[in-house]
Amino acid sequence: MRSVVDEVIAQVFELCRHDTGGAVADYIPELASADPDRFGICVVTSQGHTYEIGDSTAEFTIQSISKPLTYAMALADRGPDAVAARVDVEPSGEPFNEISLDPITERPRNPMINAGAITMASMVGGRNVEERFERVLSAYSAFAGRRLRLDEQVYRSEARTGYRNRAIGYMLRSFDILGSEPDAALDLYFRQCSIALTCRDLGMMAATLANNGVNPLTRERVLAPALVERTLSVMTTCGMYDAAGAWVAEVGLPAKSGVGGGVLAVLPGQLGIAVFSPRLDAHGNSVRGVQACRELSRLLELHFM
Ligand code: DON
Repeated sequence: MRSVVDEVIAQVFELCRHDTGGAVADYIPELASADPDRFGICVVTSQGHTYEIGDSTAEFTIQSISKPLTYAMALADRGPDAVAARVDVEPSGEPFNEISLDPITERPRNPMINAGAITMASMVGGRNVEERFERVLSAYSAFAGRRLRLDEQVYRSEARTGYRNRAIGYMLRSFDILGSEPDAALDLYFRQCSIALTCRDLGMMAATLANNGVNPLTRERVLAPALVERTLSVMTTCGMYDAAGAWVAEVGLPAKSGVGGGVLAVLPGQLGIAVFSPRLDAHGNSVRGVQACRELSRLLELHFM
């Protein structure tokens, strides 16, 4: 028997699938080959019950949805005070790839923009970039409940063309925000963004955050409750970049988007939402992803702020 959630996701899918607005990201050459019509929705409850429709098992790269996860790892590895000394938690009101620091604190404004995310990559524990990447991949896999993999082609494509991120990395080094050489932090950042997953994986990651850091299916504790709270707070104010205000007003859930077309949203204690559709708006957020979350929030009355 179809449940209410099945009915609602089918309704939302039908409503959004005709929208062909926006464009697939092409500033990372490998992303330009994504099928723009792909569309999947996955809702996972904090008990692990999964509802899905459309392209929920198609792979794409996590991109910026990696940022809250690596932020959480930096918090766990270095502690909140050491992290706060290097990155603020204020919305930037600027594009995600802005080459800027807060003029007063001289720190990145938050860990969701690239400047903050590259800083967080530099704080992940490990002896070298290989070991640090293995820790990142294991942690993301624990959120998803299955072993994830690196998309080598996307990684190489971004590493080859990431001049803007390199500019940010070298700026961070010159302001002593990065304690180490920028290339290592950049390499880890490029790799974390290139981890491949499906909408279903993303739904399980969201459900793990909704379930206070415990993966609902494997029962593994992936993140301490205090760090879940901090991560979701920063996602609320900064996760959708300079569209964060409209997002909070209309959807009312902590969330994070990525230029691969994924959107992850969390209703704490209840459920996680994942949407995948590659066409992006001017902020770098999936057009159908934003629209589908708005409709899901309205129909299921999820807005909790
Ligand atoms: O740094 C970049 O440009 C990409 N690897 C990630 C950007 C991204 O996903 C922004 N989000 N919407």
